[in-house]
Amino acid sequence: MSSRALSADDIEEMARRVLGSRKYASMNLPPETVKDLIRQEIAAGKSPKEVEKAMREKLHQIIAPYLGDPDYAAEEELLLKAAAEGDEAVRNWCLRMLSVHTSSRERIPHMEEFYQAIFSRIGTPESVLDVACAFNPFAFPWMGLPKSTAYHAYDLHAPRVHLINSFFKVYGMEPLAETRDILINPPDSKADTAFFFKEAHRFESRKKGCNRNFWISLPVKTIVVTLPAENLTGQHQMRDRQRDLVRKNIEGLGWELDETEIAGEMIFIINKGGRENE
Ligand SMILES: C[S@@+](CC[C@H](N)C(=O)[O-])C[C@H]1O[C@@H](n2cnc3c(N)ncnc32)[C@H](O)[C@@H]1O
Repeated sequence: MSSRALSADDIEEMARRVLGSRKYASMNLPPETVKDLIRQEIAAGKSPKEVEKAMREKLHQIIAPYLGDPDYAAEEELLLKAAAEGDEAVRNWCLRMLSVHTSSRERIPHMEEFYQAIFSRIGTPESVLDVACAFNPFAFPWMGLPKSTAYHAYDLHAPRVHLINSFFKVYGMEPLAETRDILINPPDSKADTAFFFKEAHRFESRKKGCNRNFWISLPVKTIVVTLPAENLTGQHQMRDRQRDLVRKNIEGLGWELDETEIAGEMIFIINKGGRENE
């Protein structure tokens, strides 16, 4: 059977099967993510079997289940208990959540310095889009921003998004987290800045060069892209490769680029020129 034999119904069926599997059922992922991956592999001329195999591999990389997940229902209860004790207990709960993923755990010792480095360059934002956020919104108490900040957070993983909104409510903020595939449906809420932390290199693996159109589509004045300077084992320096990734994706757009680094996290500040948000 050639890949052309995959009808729209077959694509729906394949997506339903993968999303309903034990590995993904509890995550309530957007079906369009899986269908987009299937169509991408079909366009590459693969057989149905190869399409499914490649799609499963890519989905695994995107969701990164190997990074670990807490028990979301149990954590929601602990959050409510912490809320009854006060802000300090909530902040301790946040630290525990931030330590679930390597990407946010590595930032814990330098969180305040990290956000100061960003805000000293872009000013204090009144609104933020935290795209592909994972657990980063739990760092809000260390950002030095007022609770009135419109903090829009986006992730594919529904239980994660639900827990982020519970935290926002408990902490006295608007619950603006959304389950959304930001590559297929980029955010439409205008904001001062977008945080796109430690994910642009994975976006390139999902679809080479996709960052460019994604960054163009973001309705913000500045985009803060961060990338690891070293691989997870610390054995390979990746600075030149990461700089190339950012430069190639903004080439010819006339945007300004500034760069700094805090504790092995490269921070690229992209200034789109202020036109996007007018
Ligand atoms: C490596 S973690 C991101 C880390 C986080 N930004 C940080 O630095 O703390 C990747 C996260 O991005 C989410 N993600 C990946 N692709 C996405 C997409 N297209 N739309 C929304 N979320 C996405 C995953 O579900 C996962 O929670």
